[in-house]
Amino acid sequence: MPYYRSAGSVPPKRHTQHRTPEGGLYYEELMGEEGFSSDSSLLYHVNIPSAVLDVRVWEVGDQSLTPNHPLRPIHLDTHALFPDEESTRGVDAVTGRRLLLGNADVRLAYVVATEPSPYYRNAIGDECLYVEEGRARVETVFGDIDAATGDYVIVPRATTYRVVPEGPVRIYAIEANSHIGPPKRFLSKFGQLLEHAPYCERDLRGPSAPRVVEGTEVEVYVKHRTSAGIVGSVHVLPEHPFDVVGWDGCLYPYAFNISDYEPITGRVHQPPPAHQVFEGQNFVICNFVPRKVDYHPLAIPVPYYHSNVDSDEVMFYCGGDYEARKGSGIGQGSISLHPGGHAHGPQPGAYERSIGAEFFDELAVMVDTFRPLELGEAGLATDDGSYAYSWSGGRRLGGEGGTA
Ligand SMILES: [Fe+2]
Repeated sequence: MPYYRSAGSVPPKRHTQHRTPEGGLYYEELMGEEGFSSDSSLLYHVNIPSAVLDVRVWEVGDQSLTPNHPLRPIHLDTHALFPDEESTRGVDAVTGRRLLLGNADVRLAYVVATEPSPYYRNAIGDECLYVEEGRARVETVFGDIDAATGDYVIVPRATTYRVVPEGPVRIYAIEANSHIGPPKRFLSKFGQLLEHAPYCERDLRGPSAPRVVEGTEVEVYVKHRTSAGIVGSVHVLPEHPFDVVGWDGCLYPYAFNISDYEPITGRVHQPPPAHQVFEGQNFVICNFVPRKVDYHPLAIPVPYYHSNVDSDEVMFYCGGDYEARKGSGIGQGSISLHPGGHAHGPQPGAYERSIGAEFFDELAVMVDTFRPLELGEAGLATDDGSYAYSWSGGRRLGGEGGTA
């Protein structure tokens, strides 16, 4: 995020002595992307940030993926993963994530958290945590971000943080293997959000003050990659990792609320790129927010049928009343996977019903991936098995059991 911020105490000149009130030195850390050649921040630590007392294995849970074969559009129900209070007891927003879908570029997971997570850093890529419902304080090495319903919280790769829920909080976690940021076409050559972008810097909330915590023998859970796939390690640090008295730069976590997204509308149907909010390597994130719809006198406001020949499309339905999917069983908390190789569009009747509509009260977060997605354990557990037949009115060969 190339938008300069500063919090706490930093020296007037970078890479120079920054003294504690007692005359000691703070330890400067550069946290930078692409080696030393992209966005970065300088953080001033009370303690040496490299110190480690112990390392051990963290079993990250089932990260296995099952191919979508034979090819099907799929409907998952995230809410079925955490059906009641008992199922959320003791669950945190890091170790409690359930893997829905993934590929070599991105993983999509869901959790209903009620307990503070361990201190954590994702060394694989940036995370985008979408808060479907609830509130949480996201404590980071840069300071706190208060997150609530509708917030996207973007956490850069290797940022140490934890999530402290205030009551149950529902989080849709988009874990990249890359960085996540605003689409490049929204940015000036120096990185400012342009006039045609649907949001601007004023809408982004970064940490405004450091969080300094005293502590010893603190565990940090690190998610990382080996040739065997995604693994975890626990680092035991001699002092608390939140010991930064000040930082500045253009790399930091931030939040953006979906209600601050200004939708782009038109006389005829606007394609999903008009609704884009973020992008990572080999995937994009779009959001469909409540908006006036197409106003050509002969407009059909729901989407035309489309064959996304280069991508798989994942919709997370997180609010409102999703007109185009009526009759398919999709509701709040549902996820649809529309894979490349299959043309999809409105369920029967929705095309006709939408004519004359002036406003859609819908809220959905979409991830389009440029490599096929496979099913994680939570995807397999909540696949309704019948969504593929929703466009034929539930008809399938061999009746209910079908051939799929
Ligand atoms: Fe679509």
